[in-house]
Amino acid sequence: MPERSLPSTAAQKDRLLTGDRPTGPLHLGHLLGSLQSRVAMQDSHECFLIVADLHTLTTRPERDRIAELPRNVRAVVLDLLSVGIDPEKSTIYLQSGVPAVYDLAILLQMLIPASHLRSLASIAQMAKVAGVDDERMSLGLLGYPVLQAADILMARAQLIPVGGDNLAHVEIAREVAQSFNEMYAEVFPLPEGRASRVPMLPGIGPDGPAASKMSKSAGNTINLGDTADVVASKLRTLGGARLRGFIDALIGNGDDDDGQAKAMHAAHQAGKLSDAAVHDRLITETEALLAPLRERRAAFEADEGLVEEILVDGTIRAREVAYATLQQVREAMGLEPLWKGLIDVAERRALDRKKPY
Ligand code: TRP
Repeated sequence: MPERSLPSTAAQKDRLLTGDRPTGPLHLGHLLGSLQSRVAMQDSHECFLIVADLHTLTTRPERDRIAELPRNVRAVVLDLLSVGIDPEKSTIYLQSGVPAVYDLAILLQMLIPASHLRSLASIAQMAKVAGVDDERMSLGLLGYPVLQAADILMARAQLIPVGGDNLAHVEIAREVAQSFNEMYAEVFPLPEGRASRVPMLPGIGPDGPAASKMSKSAGNTINLGDTADVVASKLRTLGGARLRGFIDALIGNGDDDDGQAKAMHAAHQAGKLSDAAVHDRLITETEALLAPLRERRAAFEADEGLVEEILVDGTIRAREVAYATLQQVREAMGLEPLWKGLIDVAERRALDRKKPY
């Protein structure tokens, strides 16, 4: 690998910030839904990609879960690099490695009514998935969107592409930014959420009553790091509505301008195209997407320590950005002047003490 340089700070581009919780490897649904567009926006935006490990603690603070983080963090970073995120253009960073964000979250949480958080469906949903009942919901989980607001605002990011369930969180970040600007000083641009494309990709498996969407928690994913053999055998499990869903997602490329998916549906329905023949076609299409990823992944894996170096470099850069924002926030709120005032008096006293009498 050639010598790398960091993304330039001088860029006059809008800032984009988004990312993932490191709960496991990313899958084909992520690729079609958000990763491809992240790669595409690397040139038009200054991108920050967060590996949101602190957010995993909101439902899973146990030691054994934290022990899984090193592996999961590395897997996510490798996934990002393998899809074509270029660390010279985008800053990939580890959330917990940027302590200024914790400070910022504390200050920002004063600006949002708790009732706005309690009514969020996304939080209820995360609690449900984690098996946490209302009585035992931690303050951390309730405050999930405040931490996310701190992520967004620390970078003073303008564009936040997220899944539909996260749009409400970006709204909270916007609300917090607006309150801050009104109460203290114009420090933050107002972040805008953008819903990532919904790929409508079903999970793998035979047709079922609920042809559910591909998701890690359902255990029905095609992972970006899967080998060609594994991908093929997973695709061959597809039947019924799931098979049709895959035709829509992969053959029509989502919008099917040229009617390819439609033609395939018709042939399949008329019995002119067997399930096995559709599987073969889906395997070809999926491999066209995943083979280049596999090649890049292998190159990054072969260079020992490179993935870690990229994450460390990105995190150091995120620290600088976050610290600068925190200083501005402390200044605007009067906390920095408070501290400086104390220092001034204490310094004067120290000087006076040394005066001869
Ligand atoms: N909440 C996001 C998720 O569900 C992860 C995340 C954390 C995030 N901080 C963010 C996304 C800031 C966009 C912006 O995985």
